[in-house]
Amino acid sequence: MNFNYTGLEMDLGIKGKTAIVAGGSAGMGKATALALAEAGVNLVISARRAQRLFTAADEIRARFKVSVTPVVADHATQKGRDKLFECCDTPDILVITISPPSLVWNYNDITEQDWITSVESGLIGPVELMKRFSQSMVDKKWGRIVNIATVAAKYPLDMRLMSGPARSALANYTSVVSRDLAKHNVVMNNVLPGMYATEGMLELAKPHEAMIEARYGKEAVENLTPELVHKMTLDLFDIPTQTLGEPNDLAQFVALLCSEAAKFTVGQNIVLDGGMARGLF
Ligand SMILES: NC(=O)c1ccc[n+]([C@@H]2O[C@H](COP(=O)([O-])OP(=O)(O)OC[C@H]3O[C@@H](n4cnc5c(N)ncnc54)[C@H](OP(=O)(O)O)[C@@H]3O)[C@@H](O)[C@H]2O)c1
Repeated sequence: MNFNYTGLEMDLGIKGKTAIVAGGSAGMGKATALALAEAGVNLVISARRAQRLFTAADEIRARFKVSVTPVVADHATQKGRDKLFECCDTPDILVITISPPSLVWNYNDITEQDWITSVESGLIGPVELMKRFSQSMVDKKWGRIVNIATVAAKYPLDMRLMSGPARSALANYTSVVSRDLAKHNVVMNNVLPGMYATEGMLELAKPHEAMIEARYGKEAVENLTPELVHKMTLDLFDIPTQTLGEPNDLAQFVALLCSEAAKFTVGQNIVLDGGMARGLF
């Protein structure tokens, strides 16, 4: 099989399978949907905002000969998860992500509601999706589940307090559950991205006008380009590659974790951050 999108030539052994990519209209979720489509996987992709989701579905369909079903659903809510389940109750592959949660400048500013929102989207949503969809995978004796979480789950970052703690708990949960599912050839893993040039990264920067103006001037606030967000991120974080990640850099790894080759990869948390976090293991 020749992969034009990723540039890789590798048979992932998942042609004809069905994947749900929960959070598949933008960023790393969309890139993963594209990588799976390239491997011949039929898709159900979901997101909260309809227009961008339908555009993404059209784009994937135009590029690859797979079926793509868009589902407008917020998987942080039970209603959204029910809707996803009604549209596809027996996927072979489940990939889950959210948008990068808000930045934190002072931990004392975090409200109780902020924590509830963070836990609903970063922990409860993924846990409930995995619980529902893993059952049919167990019955079929084949399943692949990947959470696209965050490097802050493993290496806490001051500004990422709304992102890291909920996903540290998610890593704890998947560590336990993956060990139970493994005997059924259902494997569950997490990838932990560092800084990536995504739509979510751009949206994340927008509300922080005061910081942007103080550091880069009023003009920067009025014309917040992806290039400027890229520069701001490199100024804030010491990334050895001196570049942000491209969504497809991560998507290729996720597709591999969704493949036949991943059957012995269980309960791992794989950091993909250009070397930013300085840890040995
Ligand atoms: N980008 C970075 O630099 C960075 C850094 C560290 C960690 N991460 C992590 O990487 C993951 C992906 O980030 P990204 O930058 O690729 O995000 P993104 O560009 O905002 O894409 C996120 C996707 O998920 C959808 N989504 C978000 N919340 C959802 C929900 N509750 N229900 C259904 N769909 C939802 C979004 O569409 P809608 O908005 O329409 O729902 C979009 O399709 C996140 O876990 C983030 O925390 C990113």
